[in-house]
Amino acid sequence: MDIQTRINEYTAEINSFEATTAEETEKFRLRFLVNKGIVRALFDEFKMVSAEEKRALGQVLNQFKVLAENKHKSLLEGLDDKSQVGDSDQDLTLPGRGFKLGSRHPLSLVRKEIVEIFNKLGFVVAEGPEIEDDWHNFSALNFPDEHPARDMQDTFFIEKKDGNDIALRTHTSSVQVRMMEMGKPPFRAIMPGRVYRNEAISARAHCFFHQVEGLYVDEDVSFADLKQTLFFFVQELYGEGTKVRFRPSYFPFTEPSAEMDISCSICKGSGCTLCKGSGWVEILGCGMVDPNVLENCGIDSKKYSGFAFGMGIERITNLKYEIKDLRLFSENDIRFLKQFSTEII
Ligand code: PHE
Repeated sequence: MDIQTRINEYTAEINSFEATTAEETEKFRLRFLVNKGIVRALFDEFKMVSAEEKRALGQVLNQFKVLAENKHKSLLEGLDDKSQVGDSDQDLTLPGRGFKLGSRHPLSLVRKEIVEIFNKLGFVVAEGPEIEDDWHNFSALNFPDEHPARDMQDTFFIEKKDGNDIALRTHTSSVQVRMMEMGKPPFRAIMPGRVYRNEAISARAHCFFHQVEGLYVDEDVSFADLKQTLFFFVQELYGEGTKVRFRPSYFPFTEPSAEMDISCSICKGSGCTLCKGSGWVEILGCGMVDPNVLENCGIDSKKYSGFAFGMGIERITNLKYEIKDLRLFSENDIRFLKQFSTEII
């Protein structure tokens, strides 16, 4: 076989040569590159050929040599990459380090639960601003100027503005007004949000807290609808068999108005410290939307009626988790918050 043919065969062999270990790479070197190897042998042979053949073969042979050397280099590099893994002191077979998930705030957990229950009844979520004007927080809701009902909610005023002062909203009922002003009935929405009152901070009161407001306005909405909706809500949140009772109450924006109590979730009505022995705990205020409020928002009160309710998320959360101090919710004490990390997020 002449030199050229053999070079062709070796070239094919080199191109398809694969090595995954140091031993296999060394085999390549021993076959092609050592003193007694193929490359050297071909050069020795080359010396013997005629001057004419030399001219044709010289370049080919040199290229072949470079090919063999480069192949050996790249085989070594491939090994380097692999041996790095083996050589490092990291054990890649060890299990990974877990990372800790945070947890939702208890108020967020309860808000989510409330929203989900009302979603089942077709209530959508609506939101409004926390910095509110007098009209949306008070006047449209049937609190006349200078009326003592305004004193029920100690207010943080921010700015005097001829006849329409700016304040931090004292309740989420302002969102009802915005919703009714902007759209057309029917309305069926709940409105979660933060509210502010100028109260001394203690275990039972804070200068801010959270509410969920509910509003349902359509033709022929009655107090029976209100009762049934809230009854369903309570069965879902506190479990079937929870009783409700309505006590007459007063809010400027609802008529008639009521406070709703539920049978105590701790003692099931037999009397304990939470319900102060009465077997009942108050959880929300509610009533039929006052026709004046509907008219203030441009809704025909002869055609439409509705109910509204509002509850404090802190209160619902306290009852659910037996939390006795409101301040815990805003102190960011990790020991408190950690206790909720097993809850669904
Ligand atoms: N806005 C009332 C409050 O903050 C609660 C409420 C809302 C009562 C809707 C009745 C209807 O005290």
